[in-house]
Parts: sequence; structure tokens; C-alpha cells
Amino acid sequence: MKSIEFKSSINVRKVREDFPILSRKINNHPLIYFDNAATSQTPQQVIDVISDYYSLYNANIHRGVHKLSQEATDKYEASRKKIQNHFNAKHPHEVIFTSGATHSINIVAHGFTEILKKGEIILVSAMEHHSNIVPWQMLCEKTGAVLKVIPMNNEGELNMAKFETLLKLNPKLVFVNHISNALGTINPIEKIIEKSHEVGAAVLIDGAQACPHIKSDFQKLDVDFYVTSAHKMCGPTGVGILYAKEKWLNKLPPFQGGGEMISEVTFDKTSYAELPHKFEAGTPNICGGIAFGAAIDYLNEIGFDNITSYENELLQYATEKLLKIDGLRIYGPSKNKTSVISFNIDGIHAYDLGSIIDKLGIAIRTGQHCAQPIMDFYGVSGTARVSFSFYNTKEEIDHLIVAINKAVLMLK
Ligand code: ALA
Repeated sequence: MKSIEFKSSINVRKVREDFPILSRKINNHPLIYFDNAATSQTPQQVIDVISDYYSLYNANIHRGVHKLSQEATDKYEASRKKIQNHFNAKHPHEVIFTSGATHSINIVAHGFTEILKKGEIILVSAMEHHSNIVPWQMLCEKTGAVLKVIPMNNEGELNMAKFETLLKLNPKLVFVNHISNALGTINPIEKIIEKSHEVGAAVLIDGAQACPHIKSDFQKLDVDFYVTSAHKMCGPTGVGILYAKEKWLNKLPPFQGGGEMISEVTFDKTSYAELPHKFEAGTPNICGGIAFGAAIDYLNEIGFDNITSYENELLQYATEKLLKIDGLRIYGPSKNKTSVISFNIDGIHAYDLGSIIDKLGIAIRTGQHCAQPIMDFYGVSGTARVSFSFYNTKEEIDHLIVAINKAVLMLK
């Protein structure tokens, strides 16, 4: 595939060489991967770390006196520190390794079953992924707490006036995603955190979609809980983090019992381990944790300022081109968004569109994007969604437009 020149400081031709999967052919066409919001691709630098782990120092951590165990432990804990530094958490033990953002949210929701009381209010935004809705509904069922929804508007933005009105109910907790997976909207989390704290509410931010695009500073944000998954940011699946302020981690009970999370066990009583181990029962995804650190190194090498500006260029370019297609509507056309575009074309089912362009080698997501309330808000059963990463190109977007036009001819 021919490359074209970019204003941005990312050398996309060189970057693409890091991703072996990008030279694959799908249905005899070069792969064009536009499903980055579902999962990102993995550079060779991270694949090498995964391969080295299993080839050279695969061992259980925090347990063995032997060399391999110590090597694995050192690398795992070094990765925790790397993640701490990347997000500017105050302590490494505020970074809890989990299996991903969903697991992280469930740890917090479970913890609050012992804190929240009947009738207390918790707030969730209207544009959440199911993983930031269902655990809170389960929490309400167990405690009798009441879930209220911060509404959104047609632009795909939160109604901040209504949010401030809801704060008058003195909620205990507020849950919002940093960036919507279905629409790409960047939510004003700084303001949400500040205003929530004014009424004494703690805030959990789901950062799964933000972390590949934006570098967040947890101390500056003063956020109580922030969750993310490695696989959205060029790392492996099955690993993520729960960040929480130390005071919260001390207050919340552990989520799972087992090995590694204990200090002493007798049949009469068990005492829990110090942070972070209190929340890390069982053998963790050791390789994944180490590779997560390598993925963060990789992204920092490219530079988040470069990533943001380049992806923004792709977003503008694709938005302009898509809007020229007859009958195409973009959902959530906020000015403050990242490189995700959700759309439908009059008279065409998103699934049919996705299936046809897959035959041309282009991977997009179709459906509800695990965010049914957003689909209900717009009155659609689903959308087609393209989501770009820093390794995508404008030329690939040109191919997408040609493919969509072909699909429209076939389907209309
Ligand atoms: N949450 C992922 C997505 O948005 C799976 O596609």
C-alpha cells in the first residue's frame, strides 16, 4: 500500500513496521484495521516482551526464593512503578493489577456494598459502557441505594447543568467515562471531579478509551478511582489496572479471597495483606502485567502529544469524507472528541455494511458497542463505528470511503 505525507510529527510509515499484523491480507486485501476502540494492535516491541517472559523467566511471583521467581517479581513490580509514573499516582501500591477495566469497576462496586446505605444516591452518565452501569445496578440491588442518570444531548455531550442539579441530591459516588467508546466524546472529567468533590461524592472514571489517546495525571485530576485495560493501549488482553487513592484502598474490603492477598490465615481468622496485594488474590497475569509496562514505554516513545494531534488529523479527515456520503449521519458529533466515529446510512443496516467492507479487508465494529442506552437515546438498534489509531493513515480512510460507496451501491 502506498503511503502519503502527513503534517504530523509521527512517522507513520516507520510506526507501521512495528506492527506485524498490519501486513496481513484479509480476503486478499491489505488489512485496514479501524476497530481500535474494541482492541488495539500490538507492536513487535511488546510481542518480544511477551515472548521473552515465556522463553526466559516464566515463574510465579512474590513466592519463590529462586532466581527465576525473583526476576519475574522484579519485572512485574517494575511495571507497576512504570504505570504509577505514567499516570502520576502518588504510590505504586495505589496501582492494583486486575484483568481489565471491567474487573476494576467490579472491585469498587463490591467494596461499596459495605459502605453504601439504603436510599443513598449514586450518579452514572447516560453514555456509559455496560461495564460502568451493570455493576452499579447490582450494587443498588444489594444495598437499596438509588442510581440516577446524568443525561446527554444530541451532540453526544453530557448535560452539565442537569449534572449540577443532580449534585444537590448529595450523591455518594459519581461514575463517568473519560471518553465514550460508542461516540468518542471526551467528557469534562476535571469539572465533574471538582464539582462532585464539592458535595463530598467520590468519582470513578472509566479511562479504557482515553488511555490510548490522552495521558492522564491522577494526582492533578484528584480522581478517587480510575480504571483502564492494557489491550486498548497496545498491550495484551486480560490485564488492566484499578487506580484508587490509598485511603479508599484501605477502606474497601477485598474483592476476592485466596493466596497472595493474606497476611495470616488460621481456621479462626484471616488478616489481609498490605496494599496492593490485598486486592490481588491468586496468581496474576504476570506476563500481561510486564507487557503492559512495555506498551506504555512504546506509547511514550511515540509521544502522547504526537498521538493526539495525528489522530485528530485522521478524525477531521474521515469526518469530512464520510459526511459527503448521501444519507450518512454521525452520532455524537461533539467538537470535543477523539478518533471514534459512529454512523449509519439511511436504509442500510450497520451489520450489512460491516460485513461487505470486511470482504474488502476493512475491519470496523457494528452493533450496540456495549452501550445500549446510547443507542436507545438516538433511537437506533446499532451503528457502524470506525475508530482510528496512530498507525492508521489517510490513505486507509480513502479506501474506507470507496468501500462504503461500493457497499451502498450493493445494498440500496
Ligand atoms: N468496549 C469495547 C468496544 O467499544 C469492546 O468495542
